[in-house]
Amino acid sequence: MSSIISVSNLSKAYGSGFKALNGINLDIKRGEIFALLGPNGAGKTTLISIICGIVNPSQGSVSIGGHDIIRDYRAARSMIGLVPQELHTDAFESVWATVSFSRGLFGKPKNPAHIEKVLKDLSLWDKKDSKIITLSGGMKRRVMIAKALSHEPQILFLDEPTAGVDVELRKGMWEVVRTLQASGVTIILTTHYIEEAEEMADRIGVINKGEIILIEDKATLMQKLGKKHLTLQLQNKLDAIPETLAAYHLELSADGRAVTYDYDTKGDRTGITSLLSDLRNAGIRISDLDTKQSSLEDIFVSLVRAP
Ligand SMILES: Nc1ncnc2c1ncn2[C@@H]1O[C@H](COP(=O)(O)OP(=O)(O)O)[C@@H](O)[C@H]1O
Ligand SMILES: [Mg+2]
Repeated sequence: MSSIISVSNLSKAYGSGFKALNGINLDIKRGEIFALLGPNGAGKTTLISIICGIVNPSQGSVSIGGHDIIRDYRAARSMIGLVPQELHTDAFESVWATVSFSRGLFGKPKNPAHIEKVLKDLSLWDKKDSKIITLSGGMKRRVMIAKALSHEPQILFLDEPTAGVDVELRKGMWEVVRTLQASGVTIILTTHYIEEAEEMADRIGVINKGEIILIEDKATLMQKLGKKHLTLQLQNKLDAIPETLAAYHLELSADGRAVTYDYDTKGDRTGITSLLSDLRNAGIRISDLDTKQSSLEDIFVSLVRAP
């Protein structure tokens, strides 16, 4: 897949001197769903705002479909639809009017067939004549997406599309995003929900304190995470792991009453059977055990905590 967006060495210092982004490099592939995952204040909205031409970068460059966002602003911007974090809609307009009007803002000629397709993709067709004020929260969000797609952009940015939304609406939104991807739109969403990145994305970028600290295919990431930890509670306190068990790389707890064994759930063998028999041969008795799956949450937390 070729890249549709290329961000290179991008930095942003706000007027106060505060550095919100620091040396961001990022390529978005045509047709993918890319999730930018990071805690509040990480710089997600700043990055999206620069790519969409709303905020000026302090350093670095961005090109969209080969168009530089500063030198070639109009061409770059017309390829993008943006659904901002803060939603605002014209309450008394009809769905059809507000979506058609957004298209006009991009100087594009009327195209009722496109507006119709967008409204149908977003399950808003039967609401096309309703005033926005009469719609549910979930529908209003979909109207915002329809507005962002009105000028036929190839790329859609969704800034925290499900923040503060209940579980059901969130799942509905995920379905909408998949439908849009199937219709050929490249999607970049920001989120601070790990589950959302895990559920939606083809690739995940983790951003923290203005720096991208990890970019990975989701499948690869999940494979790396296909690790489990087996914790064995011991009947008797252990001072040290016996030499005969060195191959298992066990970790002894500080109080000497538990050992932890890491194993790969995707491997041919976990090594648990032989571990248990070798423990017995070493005279170590077990009083209890439990296993824990490491998750995206684990690495996310450890990455974000790292100094
Ligand atoms: N207009 C601004 N002026 C000064 N600082 C800002 C401005 N906008 C955002 N920031 C700061 O930049 C950092 C990143 O913000 P933002 O990009 O909104 O993060 P996120 O979207 O990941 O929550 C935050 O510390 C925020 O306070
Ligand atoms: Mg934000």
